Amino acid sequence: MNAPQALSDYAHLVQTDRIHGSIYTDPAIFEQEMARIFHRGWLCLGHEAEIPQPGDFRATTLGRQPVLMVRGDDGQVRVFMNRCRHRGMTLCEDETGNEKFLRCWYHGWVYRNTGELEDVPLANAYGAQFRREDFGLTPVPRMESYRGFVFASLAPTGQSLLEHLGLARRYLDIFLDASPTGEIDVTAGVHRTRYRGNWKFVGMDGYHPHYTHRSVMDSWKRRPGGGMANLHHGDPFCDESGNLTRDAGNGHVLLDMFPSRLAHVDEYLAGIRKRPGGEDYIAAMQEAHGPQRARELLAWAGDPHVGIYPNLQLIGIQIRIIRPLAVDDTEVLMFPALLKDVPPSINEMRLRQHESFYGPAGAGAPDDAEIFERNQQGLGATVEPWVYLARGLERERQDTDGSIIGMPGDETTQRGQLREWKRMMSEA
Ligand code: FES
Ligand SMILES: [Fe+2]
Repeated sequence: MNAPQALSDYAHLVQTDRIHGSIYTDPAIFEQEMARIFHRGWLCLGHEAEIPQPGDFRATTLGRQPVLMVRGDDGQVRVFMNRCRHRGMTLCEDETGNEKFLRCWYHGWVYRNTGELEDVPLANAYGAQFRREDFGLTPVPRMESYRGFVFASLAPTGQSLLEHLGLARRYLDIFLDASPTGEIDVTAGVHRTRYRGNWKFVGMDGYHPHYTHRSVMDSWKRRPGGGMANLHHGDPFCDESGNLTRDAGNGHVLLDMFPSRLAHVDEYLAGIRKRPGGEDYIAAMQEAHGPQRARELLAWAGDPHVGIYPNLQLIGIQIRIIRPLAVDDTEVLMFPALLKDVPPSINEMRLRQHESFYGPAGAGAPDDAEIFERNQQGLGATVEPWVYLARGLERERQDTDGSIIGMPGDETTQRGQLREWKRMMSEA
């Protein structure tokens, strides 16, 4: 089908309890997603800790547009369009690096890492009216950061980043405040997954683990204390766990496993105390945050399991960036974040937990990529095109902070994301 043009068409495609499968398969709808979501709203590019030294840069994309996140010699992080001001060549071909000057490969124009045009070869041919200061790198129309998370938007106006983050800001804090100083180290690199499926499949789905990851869940029962099992006592996705699915508004959603983790925090802390420096870590957290908040943060374990709409997820120790390439082609970048100012044994524990589930040798993440590809294939059958998302609709309720909560396997999270999708897609 063709992409709907009228606002009412998106209202038809995304209904309260069901959505039309074409939103995952129609290339014309994907084009509108690029224009109305990825080239208009706030996207996360990553964290400043990926580029800690002056001159460090990372070339990435803002939707489909090439951009450059770079720390200048003055220490400031900026985001520029990755495009030479001469004839438009991409300036950085390497994805990461460190440069004082960025030289265009085509005709050799040279820029400072703060954006100014430094040198133009054979400049005398440009005449007297040519001024180098008019040809610095073009900043992205809007850039804001929240505690080092860098967000950018191609729209020159719109809601502020804090308005966009809304209630979800606290989950970025939870991720960072697992360190007593609130600082992270994101220099370990990145691992990537690319799957032949739509970007919206990378959701927050508490219904699937028992089935998609059945072998992993079984192993947790047999191996308490190992890998991710260290974080989960019993089954975090069953109704009796006390856990929740949470729609924090603006498309930001999480699998909120705080209730079960808080219930078992003493066992978790006993495990940490056995590690070298574990006692010091707990003491430093209490010193930094006070006993009550420290206990809560330790229960969270720096893992808000949150999706910040549309392209950032904080799961375990990962900063995950979702990069849609085509309607049925998606790349997911996973940056492991280490905590600064903690004993090495704490980061080692977190890394081992991460590896047990994620990454090429992880027991869980490859399941998801496989499922997403099969989901894309199944949606190719269009005789009955609707996708049913009513699970828990009757029992979801509003929490005191205004967010909407459901049971751990309820589709409150998908409904929250798709409500925001519909809102953004319907804005002319
Ligand atoms: S396109 Fe960059 S110097 Fe010509
Ligand atoms: Fe999964």
